[in-house]
Amino acid sequence: MSKIIDGKAFAASLREQIASRVAKLKQQHQLTPGLAVVLVGEDPASEVYVRNKAKQTVEVGMASVEHKLDENTPESELLSLIETLNADAAIHGILVQLPLPKHINESKVLDAIHYEKDVDGFHLTNVGLLSTGGEGVVPCTPLGSIMMLKDRLGSLSGKNAVVVGRSNIVGKPMASLLLQESCTVTIAHSRTENLADVCRGADILVAAVGRPEMIPGDWIKPGAAVIDVGINRIERDGKKKLVGDVDFASAEAVAGAITPVPGGVGPMTIACLLHNTVQQACRQHNIDMPSA
Ligand code: GUN
Repeated sequence: MSKIIDGKAFAASLREQIASRVAKLKQQHQLTPGLAVVLVGEDPASEVYVRNKAKQTVEVGMASVEHKLDENTPESELLSLIETLNADAAIHGILVQLPLPKHINESKVLDAIHYEKDVDGFHLTNVGLLSTGGEGVVPCTPLGSIMMLKDRLGSLSGKNAVVVGRSNIVGKPMASLLLQESCTVTIAHSRTENLADVCRGADILVAAVGRPEMIPGDWIKPGAAVIDVGINRIERDGKKKLVGDVDFASAEAVAGAITPVPGGVGPMTIACLLHNTVQQACRQHNIDMPSA
């Protein structure tokens, strides 16, 4: 088996399963899951993400609605749009693209989305459900990462997992998921002492710091599974390049399994967003998720 975990292929097969579930929801329940994506401002990277999200939503047979608001939109206007979407029966998932402009309070906006329409897992109720092992919705990037790990390793029980990065979007929810899988979990971050040694103890290493190629191969335990969440745009030898938080060339030589950048975690994130939207649509209609 290749050491490389092919996130692109994994995401494509997950999207096929989602498309088959959506077809059953339409056929058996006359239910078309709908996802609304809200973008405030004109951040170029966010515009690319939003376009890809809309395209893939439609490709799996769901309805996609986009709301593009001006950079200077007042917070109150964004909150009232969320209220309208909360009340719209055709919309089962609402995603407000982050980052938001500075004049808007991010947590206030995320908590305004009804927790049953939250497809990011950022609402406080879903954060609480994840950390207490309840039935909530799980943030997309950690969800995609845990799916790939379980697919490759089978049971994760008893393994030493180190998550480098403590963000609300990736680090903390990833740690919760690994704990649910009965790993021994360490969350490391920029203030961690002897970070290299902490990483060397990991059977599972998740890098989510946002620093290009920060983790070299000699920080990795031979045979470890490495999940690289970083997406960093750099320029090398006059060429623009996308790299992860792990130095892929040296890490690949030691790791037992590793996600590349691009083509690893990235493609799984949108596939998991589609999965979360189907999950929320089923929950709102009290329907069991159809088999794929
Ligand atoms: N911006 C970058 N990634 C994400 C994501 O997963 N969800 C939201 N809402 N915004 C993002």
